[in-house]
This record gives sequence, C-alpha cells and structure tokens, in this order.
Amino acid sequence: MTVPDIIIAVDGYSSTGKSSLAKQIARSLGFTYLDSGALYRGVTLFAQREGYISPDNTVSDSLQAALDSLQLFFGEGNHCFMDGEDVEEQIRSMSVSSQVSPIAAVPYVREWVDCRLHSLSFSGRVVMDGRDIGTTVFPNAEVKIFMTASDSVRAKRRYDELVSKGQKADLTEVLENLRQRDWIDSHRETSPLRRAEDAFVLDNSEMTMEEELCWVRGLIQGKFGILE
Ligand code: CDP
Repeated sequence: MTVPDIIIAVDGYSSTGKSSLAKQIARSLGFTYLDSGALYRGVTLFAQREGYISPDNTVSDSLQAALDSLQLFFGEGNHCFMDGEDVEEQIRSMSVSSQVSPIAAVPYVREWVDCRLHSLSFSGRVVMDGRDIGTTVFPNAEVKIFMTASDSVRAKRRYDELVSKGQKADLTEVLENLRQRDWIDSHRETSPLRRAEDAFVLDNSEMTMEEELCWVRGLIQGKFGILE
C-alpha cells in the first residue's frame, strides 16, 4: 500500500497495546515509529536517580534546569538511551510506572518532550503513540486513532509483559497503577488524555493484532481512496 507522507497518531489509555499496534503499522507502511511515553519514562528515571522527585511525588523545580543537559534518544533496537546508557528495561519497571504520570503532568516536562518529538518527526512518515499526540503534539495529524480496552484485559497484558521480561509483578498492583495513571493523565491541566474529535476509536479488548492491523489499513485506504 503506497501512503503519502503523513503522521499517524495513536493515543489512548494505559496498556491498550498502542505501542504494539503502532510498531506494526510502522513496519507495514515503512514508517518510523516514535514512542512518546518512553521519553516521559526516561525523564522519570532521570528524576528518580538524581533525586528530583520525592516518594510522595513532589517534583523539585530544579528538574527544569537539569533537563537542559539530559540526553535521551532512541538507539539500537529502538531502545531508549540516557546519556549513552541503554535504559530500555529500567524505564518499563513498575518503579518508573508509579511516578511517570506526576512527572508527565509538569508543563515544562511536556514542553521538553514535545520539542524532541517535533524534531524527530520533521520529515513525516511517522507513527507516534502517546496520550496527546492527536490533540496537542500533532493536532493536524492526518490519521488519528484512540485506543481503549477493558481494565482487566489491559492489566493482564501488562502483567504478562512484565513477567515475560523476568520482572516481579502483582496483577492487583498493575491494575491499580493503570487506573491511577489513567486518572492523573485524564485530569491534568496541561494536555490531558482525551479523544481528539476527529480520532477513530479502536476497542481492542477482543481483537487479535492481525484484526487491529486490518482495521487500521482499512481506515487509511478509506481516508486516502487507496484501492488495494
Ligand atoms: O505503555 P503505557 O500505555 O502504559 O504508557 P506509556 O505510553 O509508556 O506512557 C507512560 C506515561 O507517560 C503515561 O501514563 C502518561 O503519564 C505519560 N505520557 C503522556 O503524558 N503523554 C504522552 N504523549 C505519552 C505518555
């Protein structure tokens, strides 16, 4: 399928499989995949290591200046690197998940991440997943998808993912974390999680990846009048 140089925004609730679907879309279209959540997770790991966030989630104002020297980028295997170190595994830990939403609610953190997302997508042909891609980061994205799934399905998926990576996980704790993040993400003042008016909703509770991909391809074909 030949698709123009567009931006595809995949937003939605925690652990709805946004990144898995976005990666598959990117692969099938020959687009670049960008994981905006990884940057928020990277900033959170940095804030934890350097002591800019306390156990009660208070974020120190000094984080703002410290971000000037933070080097976060996507390297080999699309892993997230912090100052040259591969931190892909650490940023997916429950410890980071438990503090990422308070960090992502800080306006200067959002500006810092948005700035990087824009420079990484200057040439288009990008699939980006997150919470506010279709509303704030790329409000003019040509294709917008908003993903949702039942709480129990989402918790089970995240639990299985953590266990398969050899990390300790507790299903109740995972479920609680998803609900908490969804609440904070939807209620923050700056760029809250919400469906863009022109986004298509995809509830994948009962769908296979193949079915999801088929749904997306149909959406793109319909939108651009592609007959294949
Ligand atoms: O993989 P999962 O859906 O659980 O989360 P993620 O995409 O890795 O994002 C982690 C956290 O980053 C979210 O819970 C949000 O607090 C924040 N985030 C955001 O605020 N805006 C984005 N565009 C992406 C992530």
